[in-house]
Amino acid sequence: MKKLSKKELATHRLEQQINLFQCPICHEKMKTGDGKLTCPNRHMFDLAKQGYINMVQQSKKTQYDQSLFEARQRLTQSGFYRELILAIESLLQSRDTEFLLDAGCGEGSHLAQILDKIDHQFGVGVDIAKEGIQTAAKAYESGQWIVGDLANTPFTDKAFDVILNILSPSNYQEFTRLLKDDGIVMKVVPGPEYLKELREQVFAGTDQEGYSNEETVARFKQFFTIKHRKQVYDEVALTEDQFQNLIQMTPLTQDVDLSRLRFVDSITLDLEILVGEK
Ligand SMILES: C[S@@+](CC[C@H](N)C(=O)[O-])C[C@H]1O[C@@H](n2cnc3c(N)ncnc32)[C@H](O)[C@@H]1O
Ligand SMILES: [Zn+2]
Repeated sequence: MKKLSKKELATHRLEQQINLFQCPICHEKMKTGDGKLTCPNRHMFDLAKQGYINMVQQSKKTQYDQSLFEARQRLTQSGFYRELILAIESLLQSRDTEFLLDAGCGEGSHLAQILDKIDHQFGVGVDIAKEGIQTAAKAYESGQWIVGDLANTPFTDKAFDVILNILSPSNYQEFTRLLKDDGIVMKVVPGPEYLKELREQVFAGTDQEGYSNEETVARFKQFFTIKHRKQVYDEVALTEDQFQNLIQMTPLTQDVDLSRLRFVDSITLDLEILVGEK
């Protein structure tokens, strides 16, 4: 049998899950047809040939470019965030999750790895960076990839059982709208020692060497009741290639001459998962 193209696959998937979508302009329900999502007021969003949809009206330039997302994808695919993915999977295992949103999914590897492991899920990755969504759509068929703004997402009220938000900005009013009444938000924030060997080099002698996430936690608590806080701590051995991908993919080094950074063969992964309910 002929293999479906990415666009055909996405069309089929969207036809089945069209109730998840609303127009980001007039907030009416959407219909599929002719390779597009259309609302009754004729706002239209084309399905790209790689199977993603751009649902922002005006593209926004972000600090993240194609090469950053590709480096991030290579690093994640090499297993760098393995302990984080395992921790998220184990938190998801005890729940019946049908609809999962990765809010600020970047190049999509975290969501794709989670969807590979857990059955019966419809996973949507949304990010404002078109380069990130293109990189995700090229690599992974398992998720539905959407260019969208977390401030005004193209999804219906109470559409999702789980919202993942990994090392990305949040919009808690929007998350509250999107979450089912018994749904959960899993926000992943850096812990004080996250990438400390790199921070020491980048921020030597400044007050940015350390990092506290207490303000982020306090803000999360204004919107959600915290059910768990789970720390993910790992010392990850790095090859030269992984180190190069790491320094290219992290916003930490955006104003730094990468050639001045010394190779380190091990780096600390210190993350915290906040699990909250409405
Ligand atoms: C540090 S990256 C993390 C990406 C991914 N979750 C990961 O862990 O690899 C932060 C992401 O948030 C996205 N982002 C920032 N503002 C956004 C917004 N208003 N709406 C959607 N995504 C946004 C960026 O484009 C970027 O991909
Ligand atoms: Zn509309």
